[in-house]
Amino acid sequence: MSHEPPSSRDSSEQRSNSTLYERVGGEAYFVELVERFYVRVESDPVLRPIYPPNLEPGKANLAAFLAQYWGGPPNYNTRRGHPRLRMRHFRFAIGTRERDHWVHHMLDAVRESPASPDDVEALIAYFEQAATVLINQPR
Ligand code: HEM
Repeated sequence: MSHEPPSSRDSSEQRSNSTLYERVGGEAYFVELVERFYVRVESDPVLRPIYPPNLEPGKANLAAFLAQYWGGPPNYNTRRGHPRLRMRHFRFAIGTRERDHWVHHMLDAVRESPASPDDVEALIAYFEQAATVLINQPR
């Protein structure tokens, strides 16, 4: 007879008991993901002009937001208030072109990350749909 608690033998139950934030190793994962993403943004002729000269505050906000979204501490809300991402992106002209560049770079950054295949899949699905919601230009 096994001496393991039932939940540790049931992988689906184990998954539902942990957050993606915990599985990928916490805050550092998101800081590094955003760092890799921004390296790409910096040399992207479509995206770079949309971003402000100093990229550091945006990096920190995006990393905090993602960590919070995936189950980490609510540091984004503490610093910035309710995310309201659509509203916060109105001042940037985002068409399908901008969306596609953004998603392309973020998916590259996710695929280069040490997350498990299931977690990579969840992150990719999330970024694809979240970015589509932010399109605010009819082209
Ligand atoms: C669709 C393409 C997107 C474009 C062109 C875009 C562009 C931008 C820009 C220019 C900023 C300002 C950065 C700064 O002030 O330094 C920003 C901020 C931000 N973006 Fe995006 N973004 C996109 C998609 C997304 C997606 C999909 C997410 C979330 C999954 C996201 C989350 C954020 C967050 C959390 C901030 C910081 C907001 C704040 O606290 O001020 N963005 N974005």
